[in-house]
Amino acid sequence: MSLSTEVSKRRTFAIISHPDAGKTTITEKVLLYGNLLQRAGTVKGRGSGQHAKSDWMEMEKERGISVTTSVMQFPFGDALVNLLDTPGHEDFSEDTYRTLTAVDSCLMVIDAAKGVEDRTRKLMEVTRLRDTPIITFMNKLDRDIRDPMEVMDEVERELNIMCAPITWPIGCGKEFKGVYHLLRDEVILYQSGHGHMIQDVDVIKGLDNPELDKRLDESLVETLREELELVVGASNEFDQEMFDAGELTPVFFGTALGNFGVDHMLEGLTNWAPTPKPRETDVRSVTAEEEKFTGFVFKIQANMDPKHRDRIAFMRICSGKYSKGMKMRHVRIGKDIAISDAVTFLAGDRSHADEAFPGDIIGLHNHGTIQIGDTFSQGEELKFTGIPNFAPEMFRRIRLRDPLKQKQLLKGLVQLSEEGAVQVFRPLDNNDLIVGAVGVLQFDVVVARLKSEYKVEAIYESVSVATARWVHCDDAKKLDEFRRKVSTNLALDGGDNLTYIAPTMVNLNLSMERYPDIQFLKTREH
Ligand code: G4P
Repeated sequence: MSLSTEVSKRRTFAIISHPDAGKTTITEKVLLYGNLLQRAGTVKGRGSGQHAKSDWMEMEKERGISVTTSVMQFPFGDALVNLLDTPGHEDFSEDTYRTLTAVDSCLMVIDAAKGVEDRTRKLMEVTRLRDTPIITFMNKLDRDIRDPMEVMDEVERELNIMCAPITWPIGCGKEFKGVYHLLRDEVILYQSGHGHMIQDVDVIKGLDNPELDKRLDESLVETLREELELVVGASNEFDQEMFDAGELTPVFFGTALGNFGVDHMLEGLTNWAPTPKPRETDVRSVTAEEEKFTGFVFKIQANMDPKHRDRIAFMRICSGKYSKGMKMRHVRIGKDIAISDAVTFLAGDRSHADEAFPGDIIGLHNHGTIQIGDTFSQGEELKFTGIPNFAPEMFRRIRLRDPLKQKQLLKGLVQLSEEGAVQVFRPLDNNDLIVGAVGVLQFDVVVARLKSEYKVEAIYESVSVATARWVHCDDAKKLDEFRRKVSTNLALDGGDNLTYIAPTMVNLNLSMERYPDIQFLKTREH
């Protein structure tokens, strides 16, 4: 098959949602459709939230799907879909954010009883950096949900994206009967209790079909017809261009647990979501169909399998073809290396990939030479942009049990920060070591890894830092003055970049007002 055919089949996406909205459940159903699972319910050991937090290896074992199936590839229709898992719950980390820079579209799952929640807001902010197209799934229709029109309004208002309903629910909770597909002009009926398998599809063609009045309660059908009149008048139609620009999202309703509506969403995704998009570098834009191989690393994960104590660098292929044994240029260090053992991750297995194409993710064994953001090419000197650091939201001071190991501690922390496991800040005015993360589990991971990989016994304690911003100013004099005036709030990060660490949000806002020439940045490019 030609490269352009391979490219045209690929759809690479990730799921964004608030914890408990149903990401894991929907992943299971998606894999069921992709024939990767015989029976849903086998992906994640339930109750895996309660792991022994102090034990890194145990954590790895118990975290189930979020670790072992970081990337899942499956066919759906004529498409080949890559679903990238985004760590959630307590293992929420910068990896979650960065994974979003490696996909071409996102599925947003919303608990329709709750509406737009906090984590979804944050993740949507990240998708905005690249105007990623968003598909929406309103979940848990088998429960009593809020008025669907109201939830769509909330999405439009709070996430600043227009909604185009593709399906519309008929009832909810115990009365949930199915959906009307606006584009197909079909009612698709729901049967409860068949969530673990793919159901036979029960379709009634046409909204005015008398069959509908026979099969459903009169009042439900009446409400449906009335609602649809309103919905069609008041909401947006699907528009491919606006979807591509991240301005409009097609909305599907269903229940992941009942495995209803997931197939409609997948059909929408494979029909509309973009094939691997061109990617920007520091010198030019790279298109997927280019013959020469390029890719970038967006995530590094340690100790994925206790039996293989190595780190895996996750690389998104941007152009050309990977084949086993090929030589790649590791651009940052200027070295050509032969890659003979890249891995793919198929539903828990680590299988060797002989070939991979743009949009696909491959895992490279990493012995410390690969960092987040690294570009690989076939000789060309270029660097992919848009793989940022994100300002951490939680901070702890790291302290040694044995004060003589300060040097090792610093080395360990700097390396872990290069790898993207955590961020480290060294205040200009004292010898503290402050680590910042976006998820609380990262602190446990860091302490466990310092012990196992750097033989350093460390503990963490609270510190009065509320937020951090990277500082930038083109005017050296002004920057100098700023440095002098607020030095107690300044630190260097793992890459020696100047950072403002604010004890409170109020303090940050005041400083931003007081120093209008200084830029306070929430993201920093690698
Ligand atoms: P997450 O990965 O986004 O955190 O969510 P997850 O899929 O784990 O789902 C969170 C809870 O919501 C689970 O219940 C799950 O069964 C339930 N759920 C997911 N989709 C639906 C749906 O369409 N309808 C209903 N009614 N529930 C849904 P749990 O009690 O936490 O787990 P379990 O004990 O049921 O396995």
